[in-house]
Amino acid sequence: MTSGGDSFYITTPIYYPSDLPHIGHGYTTVAVDTLARWHRQAGDDTWMLTGTDEHGQKMLRAATANGVTPQEWVDKLVEESWFPLLRTLDVANDDFIRTTQARHEERVQQFVQALFDRGYIYAGEYEALYCVGCEEFKPEAEIVDGTGPFEGLKVCAIHSKPLELLQEKNYFFKLSEFQDRLLALYKTQPDFVRPDSARNEVVSFVKSGLKDLSISRSAFDWGIRVPWDDSHVIYVWVDALLNYATAVGYGTDPEQFDRRWPAYHVVGKDILRFHAVIWPAMLMAAGLDVPRGIFAHGWLLVGGEKMSKSKLTGIAPTEITDVFGADAYRFYFLSAIAFGQDGSFSWEDLSARYQAELANGFGNLASRTVAMIDRYFDGVVPAAGAAEEIDLRVQRVVADAATNADAAIERFRPDEAIDAIWTIVDELNGYITENEPWALAKDEAKRERLSTVLYTAAEGLRALAVLLSPVMPASTAKLWDALGAEPGLGELTAQPLRAAGSWGQLPAGATVTPLTPLFPRVEQPA
Ligand code: ME8
Ligand code: MG
Repeated sequence: MTSGGDSFYITTPIYYPSDLPHIGHGYTTVAVDTLARWHRQAGDDTWMLTGTDEHGQKMLRAATANGVTPQEWVDKLVEESWFPLLRTLDVANDDFIRTTQARHEERVQQFVQALFDRGYIYAGEYEALYCVGCEEFKPEAEIVDGTGPFEGLKVCAIHSKPLELLQEKNYFFKLSEFQDRLLALYKTQPDFVRPDSARNEVVSFVKSGLKDLSISRSAFDWGIRVPWDDSHVIYVWVDALLNYATAVGYGTDPEQFDRRWPAYHVVGKDILRFHAVIWPAMLMAAGLDVPRGIFAHGWLLVGGEKMSKSKLTGIAPTEITDVFGADAYRFYFLSAIAFGQDGSFSWEDLSARYQAELANGFGNLASRTVAMIDRYFDGVVPAAGAAEEIDLRVQRVVADAATNADAAIERFRPDEAIDAIWTIVDELNGYITENEPWALAKDEAKRERLSTVLYTAAEGLRALAVLLSPVMPASTAKLWDALGAEPGLGELTAQPLRAAGSWGQLPAGATVTPLTPLFPRVEQPA
């Protein structure tokens, strides 16, 4: 049921700029950026979208609490905090959508009107418990009894804040009509929702029965007007989900829409159901293709709880990047947590991995290889002589790592891709220890062997730079430069990723330049 040829269109959620970004938002964003960079560098027709979700009651309340209009509030937050987040984390998004942009608002009205015209929307009465944190009428399973100051009240299981009983005339979307088609979708396309734990949750949720969805609100007006009834605004989640379509030309640019759509959506598991149930049903109702797939990752936990601003456990990404840099941020979150599962953040773990894997493992390998070429060959990469078994082993490790990493990326598993790539780091460190180039250098008769060993190490670093560039764009660019690879091979980001494992690309005769540490020692944050 998919069109769009070979294009790879991938999205982050659009975040609520009611508050400042924290490392959870940063996590999803760098994961998506890494997947996008990988595909882009592999030559796929890639498009990465991120953005901000600016309507709804949560935003209105945040603005009111700060004494400004909601538009002023989102403009300020987006400008001062959300755009800078992308620079802080070295994100190469192709577009950034804000739901207050005209390109979005007009097309959302068009879409909702289309559902109305097709008979999927009706007016009704509604009374239910609403969580403003989630911007959602809560299902029974997520309503729990409050404790402490909220004793005696019903609270949201995610936000632990009291729910509000809302009673309104609403417009409803006939979500209940899509149960069978959704179940058929999950069945015929088993990887529509990943990982399996997320898929199982979605399937059992849908099997338990779907209720129609309230898609408008009339108690406040910070939203997009319902086109046929301007006393209502469109429910913020319907508005928000549509960003994925409006950003690529739904309703305005059929050529672009056809080229990009459908997308892959990467989200946190907190918003899985919106993406895997409501969104495909909306698209089916409109007669459009459903997404290619939804991947739900786990939560970053701090002190065993989902880290969140609303619970004041939020950590700003700059607290990490100011000390360790953007590459280390990207590497740490993508390698330390199995993508799809929860992971606990701690400064101790971050520092330990930075030191062991980046500074001592990868960084030191790069510095000493370049330094030895500098010292023993006046900075010119030597040509390899006859390869021995131990050299061929390095070549095989590189080839396998490249193949396995690409397969892991196809599965949306950046953590497993990094594991695969790291076999090269480990192999090369062992290789250098075993071959002792510093000992070979003392014996003129072993000059050819020394050439082979240092070529092998340099060419292994060439492969590492290419394979790690989607994960750590800045340090790999620095390494590329130090290897003197560009004159012979061109820019790092132009190296075809799926050919990264074929041996012998770095030309002998390349001129290396000494490398300052890729991952310098850091002062431990207090
Ligand atoms: O839900 N661990 O926006 P939001 C991991 N506007 N990821 C986390 C996280 C944590 N502790 N906390 C947040 C919304 N995230 C809607 C989305 S999309 C059409 C509309 C990440 O600002 C994760 O990706 O609450 C999660 O799904 C998202 O931020 C929620 O961001
Ligand atoms: Mg949230």
